Amino acid sequence: MVVIQDIGDRKHVEANLIDSEARYRAIFDSAVEAIAVIDSRGVIQSINPAAQRIFGYAPAELVGKNVSTLMPQRIAREHDAYLDRYRTTHNRAIIGIGREVEGMRKDGTALSIDLSVAEWERAGQTFFTGIMRDITPRREAEAALRASEERLRSLQNEYAHLARVNEMGEMAAAIAHEINQPLTAIVNNLNAGLYAGEKGFSPGAFEEAQEVMSAASAQALRAGEIVRRLREFVGKSTGERRVEAIDTLVDAASGLALIDAAANGIHIERVSAAKGVEVRVDTVQIQQVIVNLLRNAMDALMAAPDQHERRITIATGVLEASGAVQIRIADNGPGIPEELRTTVFEPFFTSKPKGMGMGLSVCRRLIEAHNGSIELEPADNCGAAFCLNLPQNGS
Ligand SMILES: Nc1ncnc2c1ncn2[C@@H]1O[C@H](COP(=O)(O)OP(=O)(O)OP(=O)(O)O)[C@@H](O)[C@H]1O
Ligand SMILES: [Mg+2]
Repeated sequence: MVVIQDIGDRKHVEANLIDSEARYRAIFDSAVEAIAVIDSRGVIQSINPAAQRIFGYAPAELVGKNVSTLMPQRIAREHDAYLDRYRTTHNRAIIGIGREVEGMRKDGTALSIDLSVAEWERAGQTFFTGIMRDITPRREAEAALRASEERLRSLQNEYAHLARVNEMGEMAAAIAHEINQPLTAIVNNLNAGLYAGEKGFSPGAFEEAQEVMSAASAQALRAGEIVRRLREFVGKSTGERRVEAIDTLVDAASGLALIDAAANGIHIERVSAAKGVEVRVDTVQIQQVIVNLLRNAMDALMAAPDQHERRITIATGVLEASGAVQIRIADNGPGIPEELRTTVFEPFFTSKPKGMGMGLSVCRRLIEAHNGSIELEPADNCGAAFCLNLPQNGS
């Protein structure tokens, strides 16, 4: 009776074993992932058919080989050392966690593998089962996406550069005039110096010559400063972000943009409530935004009938609610009609005979790339006001 029951139990256990072995086989043979069993030295005990699709080896070619066959040489060496270390320290760096590793196909090409490892024992011997998923297509798609994003960024920078050069082209006459002034002054000073020299070494002649020479040198520096700003502005941006006081940035850009404002009877009002406040920006790009807004304001004022005083107000401050730095550029020109409030930001929208309509669309992109925003204040029948908001440095 007892004996019969024993045999029954054993048969039951055996049947269960066969059943679970069959189930394991089915998974092993049909899995999309490669499944390999290795011993504690890394020798492959068994490997499933998926390995052929992933690595290009038939299972029979791999059984008995070291699993490092499936890795590039550099990693294979590390793997051998890792198994050695594991035998002595049992430090489970990867077991049960899974990670991305580099693999190598039979034809020598590289692939990305998502690997998870389980450890088990039989008859006092340690084995590892590794499940390997080929994530190369995903990684390749990600790399392609990154490359096309990079290409887009570089095209956008080219476009912004083009807009800068275009803006300067439009200002070329004003700039030439501005540089001509110190040059004329230098010539006048030098002539005065020559004249003083002709008089011979009369008392006071040396002092007189010194005075005109230092005046000439100051004018030369002024011309040099204009050229320096111009070169900085027209040059390609390095993409580097620098910490800069907002007021310094605004004043440098205004110096360039408003070069012919006074000559055109435009009154500039400058208000600062942001002393010492800093931003972290690509200075060339943010100057470009400010220059474009100021030139737009000037264009609008010049097109307006000269009935009243033409005025541009440039204000810097910090928004209480968000802590953002704000630059507000307002003019008392004709303003922007309600129905064009969003259109003006679209590329190639322009109302000017020689305009390209690039300005505001580039401004918006540059400001958004700095995690900032650009907004047009609601129309109130007395000109247009643009607000630029930028995060304060460190926030
Ligand atoms: N301050 C302003 N007052 C009135 N209209 C404005 C003002 N700023 C912009 N606009 C309108 O928005 C349009 C688009 O401006 P945007 O700077 O994008 O291009 P643009 O100045 O016409 O040409 P570009 O800047 O490429 O030389 C302008 O043509 C003008 O109609
Ligand atoms: Mg413009």
